[in-house]
Amino acid sequence: MLIHPTGRFDNHPADNRHIEVRPLAAAIGAEIRGVSIAELSDAAFAEVRAALFRHKMIYFRDQKISHADQAAFSGRFGPFAEDAYTQGVPGYPQVQPLIKEADQSVGMVFGAGWHTDSAFLAEPPAISMLYGVDIPPYGGDTIFANSALAYAMLSETMRRMLAPLRVHMSMGRVVQTAQAHLAADETPLGRVAATRDMGRLPDEIARKVQGAMHPLVRTHPVTGEKALYCDETYATGVEGLTAAEAEPLLRFLAGHITQPAFTCRLRWAPGTYVAWDNRLCVHQAFNDYDGFRRELYRTTIAGETPS
Ligand code: SIN
Repeated sequence: MLIHPTGRFDNHPADNRHIEVRPLAAAIGAEIRGVSIAELSDAAFAEVRAALFRHKMIYFRDQKISHADQAAFSGRFGPFAEDAYTQGVPGYPQVQPLIKEADQSVGMVFGAGWHTDSAFLAEPPAISMLYGVDIPPYGGDTIFANSALAYAMLSETMRRMLAPLRVHMSMGRVVQTAQAHLAADETPLGRVAATRDMGRLPDEIARKVQGAMHPLVRTHPVTGEKALYCDETYATGVEGLTAAEAEPLLRFLAGHITQPAFTCRLRWAPGTYVAWDNRLCVHQAFNDYDGFRRELYRTTIAGETPS
């Protein structure tokens, strides 16, 4: 029996002067209240940014913003990232639609499976944001898990063992799953599914399948906090270990990070705006809202070479 871990939960808000912060769960997540993201002073924005690093995932309710507002707010966190899947709306290449129509039924949605965004890139995006416009009456939640807390809850011996290891991050599983479950179309994953043959991938996808090696434990560049860099979607091997050695280790770590104690679950509403730090958490979208439309807009902020 896996007993509930205890002892290191600390999601209390900092002393803020310009924003109100309400933690969502003991492990991760906080709602930021009392502000409109389109009209934040520099002082309020500084508290929002610090709250993101502290709570790993933050969200705002009832935001009424345009694509221009989303691009402007996102851009305050840093330069935009290359996005591995999505394409922008006309006039705003950085604002990328994620839409599933009510009459669409697919075997896999964008963001299915626990993951940290585009970890197969040499410099994966640091921060991702989503703005909800059309939301199912139920279903379509997004779930997040705190990979820094998961690291802190490992034994000292395990942490020492992991310290020198590098994880191989690859898009391979997503390509295989998309090929098996999706039609080739103009949706982000449909374009991946269109590759059809694993042996004859376009260069751009082949490079992402080849992927990148990153530290299995990474250090946040701003706060210095350490977190596990591992997920069930992209982490496919460990440098210097055989597949038989790496697989159980990665499976254990991915399961450890995403155990219920380390998660929070966001229920969307129209006007909800969420931001998360890919260096400190993993997340997953659900595919449980057939018959309902879901329309969100995504922006991603460039990251650094993980270290
Ligand atoms: C994502 O992984 O960015 C998508 C999350 C969602 O659609 O809930």
